[in-house]
Amino acid sequence: MLEFTVPGLSNADSATLADTLQKRLTACNDLHLTLKHVHWNVVGPNFISVHEMLDPQVELVRGYADVLAERIATLGGSPVGTMGANADHRSWDDYSLGRDTAQAHLGALDKVYDGMIGDHRKAIAVAGEVDPVTEDILIGQTAELEKFQWFVRAHLENAAGSLPTTDDASEKGAARSATA
Ligand SMILES: [Fe+2]
Repeated sequence: MLEFTVPGLSNADSATLADTLQKRLTACNDLHLTLKHVHWNVVGPNFISVHEMLDPQVELVRGYADVLAERIATLGGSPVGTMGANADHRSWDDYSLGRDTAQAHLGALDKVYDGMIGDHRKAIAVAGEVDPVTEDILIGQTAELEKFQWFVRAHLENAAGSLPTTDDASEKGAARSATA
């Protein structure tokens, strides 16, 4: 339980918000490391465009982690950002591709963003029940994450507007579909 929180919110509601924000903080920390991992491991003809496309995403997602962590502290909570805690607290596995082509990584990243954005939207719904300030932070981040996913998807989309990865649940499945 929190000892204090911002004016106008109950300690119990802020504890719920802090828990929700912690999950998104863990996800952001995982995502910016995953994006660097892809930045380092992408190979093939489109290497430079994907390699360079990812660094601005890394910087912004690192910034989102900072905003989320500082919101937790503002609410009276204690954000956790250490590597071991990140690994212990997440409900998903490590990114599954190593050295691979640009199309394979982009297919897999489409699935990474599916999970990231879906969970950010769930957090918006939780925050929207009690705190429009936290909700506003999450809404702004989600809009940018959705734009990043469009950057990824624009490399996968065909002229008819369909995505090869739509029916894939896994990163490896999406990587296969993207390179078929
Ligand atoms: Fe680099």
